[in-house]
Amino acid sequence: MPVRILFVCLGNICRSPAAEAAFAHAVAKAGLANHFVIDSAGTGRWHVGEPADERMRQAATARGLEVTSIAREVRAEDFERFDHILAMDRDNLRTLTARAPASHRAKVRLFRDFDPVAPGLDVPDPYYGGPEGFEDVLDIVTRTSLSLLETVKPSSRVPPADRGEPSQA
Ligand code: 4NP
Repeated sequence: MPVRILFVCLGNICRSPAAEAAFAHAVAKAGLANHFVIDSAGTGRWHVGEPADERMRQAATARGLEVTSIAREVRAEDFERFDHILAMDRDNLRTLTARAPASHRAKVRLFRDFDPVAPGLDVPDPYYGGPEGFEDVLDIVTRTSLSLLETVKPSSRVPPADRGEPSQA
């Protein structure tokens, strides 16, 4: 069974598409693409149906990251379908926690709880700022995705006893 991870911001055109791309890149590099379902969504609906912000797509491309998502709003069934629902900031964490059925609320976490450098902070919204904001988001989502992957990746080692190989004796 794949591990299902949903990244969530407000518009689903800047931060969560970047996190989705960075995490997918880390997963592919680790050879684990078949083990994950990765998606992103927004708590707001202003940009539904749009590709990610051009500034984010260009900044990501310059780093070899492809941002391909089309914006969608978080849906009720996402709380059932995904194993981990990671909010890009505390506002969105509050919104998601309020929308989540009690039985799935524990899946909702702050993405930067996994940030190895500065845990527990928001991914700053770059939408109304300059180009440095997009670079900052890409730095944060890249390092945080690597440590998130270490936490959620399925154990890759099969114990020797389960391999069905003849023993060395
Ligand atoms: P995001 O950034 O939540 O990282 O996608 C935003 C994009 C659009 C808006 C706000 C934040 N907006 O207000 O339209």
